[in-house]
Amino acid sequence: MSGFERRQGTLHGDGVSLVELGDRHGTPLYVYSGSALLGAYDAYAAAFAPVPHRICYALKANSSGGLLRLLAGRGAGADIVSGGELQAALRAGFPPERIVFSGVGKTDAEIRLGLEAGIGEFNAESEDEIRRLSSIAAGLGLTARVTLRVNPDIDPRSHPYISTGLRENKFGVAIDAAPAILDRVRALPGVEVSGVQCHIGSQVTDLGALEQAAGALVALTRSLLGRGFPLHTIDIGGGLGVDYDGTGAATPADLAARVLPAVAGLPLRLLLEPGRSIVARAGVLLARVIGIKDNGARRFVIVDAGMNDLLRPSLYEAFHRIEPVVDRGGAAGVVDVVGPVCESGDFLARERALPPVAVGELVAVRDAGAYGFSMASNYNMRPRAAEVLVENGQARVIRRRETFEDLVRTEVAE
Ligand SMILES: Cc1ncc(COP(=O)(O)O)c(C=O)c1O
Repeated sequence: MSGFERRQGTLHGDGVSLVELGDRHGTPLYVYSGSALLGAYDAYAAAFAPVPHRICYALKANSSGGLLRLLAGRGAGADIVSGGELQAALRAGFPPERIVFSGVGKTDAEIRLGLEAGIGEFNAESEDEIRRLSSIAAGLGLTARVTLRVNPDIDPRSHPYISTGLRENKFGVAIDAAPAILDRVRALPGVEVSGVQCHIGSQVTDLGALEQAAGALVALTRSLLGRGFPLHTIDIGGGLGVDYDGTGAATPADLAARVLPAVAGLPLRLLLEPGRSIVARAGVLLARVIGIKDNGARRFVIVDAGMNDLLRPSLYEAFHRIEPVVDRGGAAGVVDVVGPVCESGDFLARERALPPVAVGELVAVRDAGAYGFSMASNYNMRPRAAEVLVENGQARVIRRRETFEDLVRTEVAE
């Protein structure tokens, strides 16, 4: 469920007309459906209910407070990768013990923040990081619960920029090296080895790869338990892909069917770190058509949202469905949908069949809830978009549009 549907030809989100929202709040505008967000979380919780588990939502996908508060209130945990995300998670009400701290380059200051907050687990990426955790925690008189991230060398068959589980990637330690590392660190002061973790990539649509990675993690866990490690968790990361083309994708229930047989019976809590599959479909980016031009070779629909608002098409050549908010009918034409940023790489879609749209009309970029606003920038001195959450026919602004003053606020005048 996406939470967005047409009523008399006009796209609505949780019962609210997107035309109304575009007129009232301006564009570009991110609009999120609360029912779709919570529905996606609930699908995970239901699918993994047969075993002790925790769904730790990956904040990197979208860390807007209004959405985080909904998820925290629903019982989700949080997967964070920076001190900023830690503060955002705590501010939104995630209990510290439900927070796991991932990330390949945690600074000492970030480790200290996590320790002082009493977070559930640090997903350590190397032996060196565990030693650093040990000395900082011991210095503070605290204990860090540590999960070692392993790299199972499995190809997730996703975009190379978001593949993380291959030997050539910077993440984790080689899975074969994990037992020896854990033997060396198990007696260190200030750390308690609580499990192993892996995350092989994002936008993974091949369930076989996720199943294989979980299987490798289960085998490692069983051997560590057999050698007397008192483990508490097994963390299979996130990564489940989304059907950006709208043709249907694997669900959390499909994932659970592949993973649960292997973990059933383990005396541990299963952790997952989904981001994209919880929030992607719950968001659209609304943009208004500024101009239409034909240069002979191509027809361009120029809209007021660009790569600074939604980077995915430019960065990964990612596909997002784009639809006129008001369907006026008529034959589709092939166009490039581009933004106003001064880069030829600033496009939302290329050579795309788009139904007729006129200057001044709205288009909706679908499935933009994940890695949309969270990757937005001020490139070209463009204020970042506002964000609106719709729930039960009511809309509320969860982030106002930035102003020029916001853009220069951190500059220091001579
Ligand atoms: C360690 C870790 N966990 C979870 C995620 C979330 O992945 P996704 O949004 O694909 O579910 C990521 C993102 O790649 C990650 O690096």
